Amino acid sequence: MKAKELRQKYLEFFESKGHTIIPSASLIPENDPTVLFTTAGMHPLVPYLMGEKHPGGTRLVDAQKAIRTTDIEEVGDTTHHTFFEMMGNWSLGDYFKKESLEWSWEFLTSLEWLGLDPKRLAVSVFEGDEVAPFDEEAYRIWKEIFEKHGIPEARIAKLDKKANWWGPAGETGPCGPDSEIFYWVGPEDEIPQSFNDDNDLWVEVWNNVFMEFNKTENGSFEKLTQQNVDTGLGLERVTAVMQGLDDNYKTELWINLITKIEELSGKKYGQSEEITKALRVVADHIKASTFIIGDDKGVTPSNTDQGYIVRRLIRRAIRFGKQLGITKDLWLKEIALIVIEDYKDVYPELERNKDFILGQLDKEEIQFSKTLEKGLKELEKGTDPFVLFTTYGFPIEMTQELAEEKGIKIDAEDFKNKMKEHQEKSRTAAAGKFASGLADHSEETTRLHTAAHLLLSALQKVLGPEVIQKGSNITAERLRFDFAWEEKLSDEQKAEVERLVNEAIEQKIPVDCKEMPIEEAKAQGASGIFGDKYGDRVKVYKIGDFSHELCSGPHVENTGDLGRFKITKEQSSSAGVRRIKAVLEK
Ligand code: ALA
Repeated sequence: MKAKELRQKYLEFFESKGHTIIPSASLIPENDPTVLFTTAGMHPLVPYLMGEKHPGGTRLVDAQKAIRTTDIEEVGDTTHHTFFEMMGNWSLGDYFKKESLEWSWEFLTSLEWLGLDPKRLAVSVFEGDEVAPFDEEAYRIWKEIFEKHGIPEARIAKLDKKANWWGPAGETGPCGPDSEIFYWVGPEDEIPQSFNDDNDLWVEVWNNVFMEFNKTENGSFEKLTQQNVDTGLGLERVTAVMQGLDDNYKTELWINLITKIEELSGKKYGQSEEITKALRVVADHIKASTFIIGDDKGVTPSNTDQGYIVRRLIRRAIRFGKQLGITKDLWLKEIALIVIEDYKDVYPELERNKDFILGQLDKEEIQFSKTLEKGLKELEKGTDPFVLFTTYGFPIEMTQELAEEKGIKIDAEDFKNKMKEHQEKSRTAAAGKFASGLADHSEETTRLHTAAHLLLSALQKVLGPEVIQKGSNITAERLRFDFAWEEKLSDEQKAEVERLVNEAIEQKIPVDCKEMPIEEAKAQGASGIFGDKYGDRVKVYKIGDFSHELCSGPHVENTGDLGRFKITKEQSSSAGVRRIKAVLEK
């Protein structure tokens, strides 16, 4: 079975169980500044897991693009990827553990669907702690299923919070105990009686999360008003399982990329452990960069936030490419072209943004080679390798290689220590920066969220209808709003934007929310990011004739609740993007 069929079957199966198919959301979280990327299918659904009504109803299913960069250094094994696709089904206060686990089992084992051998499956459930007790219910459901299929009870493991609790995706939000499903990829006559989570031959294929808790800002857990289910099935892993492969990179989701890199480097997959790893890293990093740059929210390589991650991915890819012996200039785009070709049917934005993707990759490749030259000169002058890293983004391994070539000795231990301190500092900074956001749904945050809609419309009226939102970060204290625009705003323009927003506030306009088919929202000219796969129902927030935007909420009921709008700062955020910070005064 190919990945394409697997995606389709998953959606069909859950559609047959009353789920609405929804499109993949952007890789860049819309209104959740607590994380840089969409890391799981549930991420774009946070408001609905918290209780907002979803236009698709209470049962949803999708294939979601996701990026995880926490273990960038770990990429290179058979199952971990920076970019991956997660199939997921959701219950928003609808069904709970029984249906969820039984359907997972049915989809995996029924001959009509995946037809996996039940004898090769094992599961885990939450053992309990001070927040939530041992998940007796999940255990009992699995026990019944396993008994029916003659699978030993020892294949149901009880594990702790580290293994069997999922979420929140950011700092706060929905989370809960989970139950994971594993598939034995080893030889048939060696399937262990019991499940052991240290054995890599048990590959996790699916996670069922029972989201009935909300982690609050002070770190405590409170029960949500509804019991949700959030599941995630790793498309790459299950594709490999379906094809009887022990390595995701051997499936069609990777093979064309690997072949191309082999061609460019003259090396062979499997030739040595080191070469295999480098081939995987290059394929992984360029695929992830292509998807991030090719997202409709177009991120470009930079020194901050998402842009910094892309820069790091590209530079690592170049470094591993060099290690493989690739000498050609501007080769990244040749790999990116294959990513686009392989995925454009499912993610048409890649084709749409093709020129942009290729151009950005070229640009970064050129800039990095200039940096390398400069760095090399510095190295010869005796500059500290740590300074090379912080100033030029020069990875230590590369510094080491170059130093070796030039016969310069460097102190790796000293570098490691400085690096550690640096990482600790930047982690603290990032946590502070993304500590809160719309996820908290407080009254203040909700007010600023509505103000952000008024701000977008005001900007479109003052600067032109072509202004599009690039992102937002809303805390209880202030809103931060990024939009595509080249020039600094003049004082007059800022004053006019403020005036228009305040006028809309003074007019006490009711905020109206309607659900409608996506086509209708488009036809009405609503702003927002439109998914492009399945055609679907969406929520549109309308503020009189002033603003008209696709959004999941929440919002205030009337603009009269907002107070006085004031821009506190207007600055550049990255190339072609301006950032406004604003507050509401009482
Ligand atoms: N959100 C869950 C996960 O990512 C399903 O594993």
